[in-house]
Amino acid sequence: TQAQIGVTGLAVMGANLARNLARHGHTVAVHNRSQSRTKTLVEEHGHEGSFVACETPEEFVAALERPRRVIVMVKAGAPTDAVIEEFAPLLEPGDMLVDGGNAHFLDTRRREAALRERGIHFVGAGVSGGEEGALLGPSIMPGGSKESYEALGPLLEDIAAKVDGVPCCTHIGPDGAGHFVKMVHNGIEYADMQLIAEAYDLLRQGLGLSPSQLADVFDEWNRGELSSYLIEITAEVLRQVDASTGKPLVDVIADRAEQKGTGRWTVQIALDLGVPVSGIAEAVFARSVSGHADLREAARGLPGPSGVPAGVLDESFVEDVRRALYASKIIAYAQGFDQIRAGSAEYGWEVDPGALATIWRGGCIIRAVFLDRIREAYESETPPVTLLTAPLFVEALGLAQDSWRRVVARAAEFGIPAPGFSTALAYYDSLRAERLPAALIQGQRDFFGAHTYQRTDREGSFHTLWSGDRSEIGG
Ligand code: 6PG
Repeated sequence: TQAQIGVTGLAVMGANLARNLARHGHTVAVHNRSQSRTKTLVEEHGHEGSFVACETPEEFVAALERPRRVIVMVKAGAPTDAVIEEFAPLLEPGDMLVDGGNAHFLDTRRREAALRERGIHFVGAGVSGGEEGALLGPSIMPGGSKESYEALGPLLEDIAAKVDGVPCCTHIGPDGAGHFVKMVHNGIEYADMQLIAEAYDLLRQGLGLSPSQLADVFDEWNRGELSSYLIEITAEVLRQVDASTGKPLVDVIADRAEQKGTGRWTVQIALDLGVPVSGIAEAVFARSVSGHADLREAARGLPGPSGVPAGVLDESFVEDVRRALYASKIIAYAQGFDQIRAGSAEYGWEVDPGALATIWRGGCIIRAVFLDRIREAYESETPPVTLLTAPLFVEALGLAQDSWRRVVARAAEFGIPAPGFSTALAYYDSLRAERLPAALIQGQRDFFGAHTYQRTDREGSFHTLWSGDRSEIGG
C-alpha cells in the first residue's frame, strides 16, 4: 500500500499526530531514528488505522504516494536541520516537507528558501494543543506555498479540531508565517497564564481563600466571558491534592516557572518590530523573576506591607479581580494581534487576523470563547486599528475599568505583585492619554545629545541651543 502521508519523529507529539491521521482513515507511513518507537507505535495502536512501519528513510520515502507529504516532528533547532538534510536528498520536486515543531520562524524562512531551490515545498506548521490535541484535534497553523496547502490542507483540516464544524486549520501565509503566528500564540499563552496566576494570588492573599475554594471560583468564571481551556485547567490544578503530603498540590510545587523559549522569542521579535507587547514581556519576565532564587533570597527581608488587614476586602473583590483579569486579557491579546499584523507587514505574508482568530477558537492552548469575539472584530466591516477599539471590547473595558483600577491599587497597597495587571492598565491609559510625557523625553534627548525634536505646531526638526543662549534652531 502507498501511504497518503508520512510522519518521522515518533515521540509523543509525532506518534499522536500519526495516530490521529490513521484514525481519520489515512494510511500513514511512520518512521523514527530508533526503530523501537516505530515498533511500539504499531504494536500498541496498529488497530486504530492503517500504518506502514518503515525502518529506513529510503523505505519511508518509497512508501509514500506522490507528491510526497512528510511531517517532521523532532526537536526544534539542530535536530530539525539534521532530519531535513537526511530526507531532502531522497525527495523529488513537488514533494512537501512539513515541520510541525516549535521552530523559530527565521529558521523556517531559511529552510524554506533553501528547499525551494531544490523544488521541495517546505511547510513550517505551528501545531498547538499539546499531546492530547495532537491526538484528538489540534489547532494547525501551516505556512509555506499556497500550492502545498492545496495538497496538505484537506488532510490537516481533517485531523484538526472543529468549532461549529469549522476546522481549526488554515493556510497562514508564505514561508515562516505559520511558525511566526505559533510563536505569538505562545507569547499570548504566557501572558494569559501569568494573568490567571495573578488573579489566583490576589484572591488567595487578599481574601484568604483556599486552593479548593479558588478552584470553585475559576469553575464559575469558566461559565462566563472568561470561558477557556486555561481557566478550566486552572481549576483542575487548584483542586489537586498531593498524595504524599495531603496538601494542595499547588502548595508543594516549587514556585519557579520554566520556559522553553517561544515566549522569549515573541518578545525579542516584538522589540525588533517595535511593537509594544508589554503584557507578554511582563509574563516572560515574571517567569524569569520566579526562577532567580539568588535575587529572591537576597531581597526577602525588604520592607513592605505585612499582608492584607482583616476586613478590608470583601466578596466584591472576587468580581473586581474577574473584571480586571478580563480587561488585562483583552490588552494581552490586542498586543499579540498587533505583533502578528506588524510581522505580516514586515515579511509580506498577508496574514488574515480574523481567520487566525477562527482557528484559535479550538484545539490550541489559548482556545476560548473570547477568540470568537476577536474573530467578529476583525471580520466586521470596519476592522479596528487595535482590538481595544472594537465596539465589543470598548464596552467590556468600560465595564471593567473601575474594578481593574481598584485591583491594581489594592495590589500595590498590600504588596501583592501583579505585574501583568499593572502593565496592562498602564498600556490602556497610555493609549488613551491626550499627551504623553514622551515630550519631556524628547527634550532630554535633545539636551544631552542634540537628537532634535518635532513640534506640535510646525513641521520640521528642531534643536534648542541648550549650552548656548537657549534659542531654537531648525525648521
Ligand atoms: C501548545 C503549547 C506548546 C508547549 C509550549 C510550552 O501550543 O501546544 O504552547 O507549544 O506546551 O512550548 O511552552 P513553555 O515550555 O515555554 O512554557
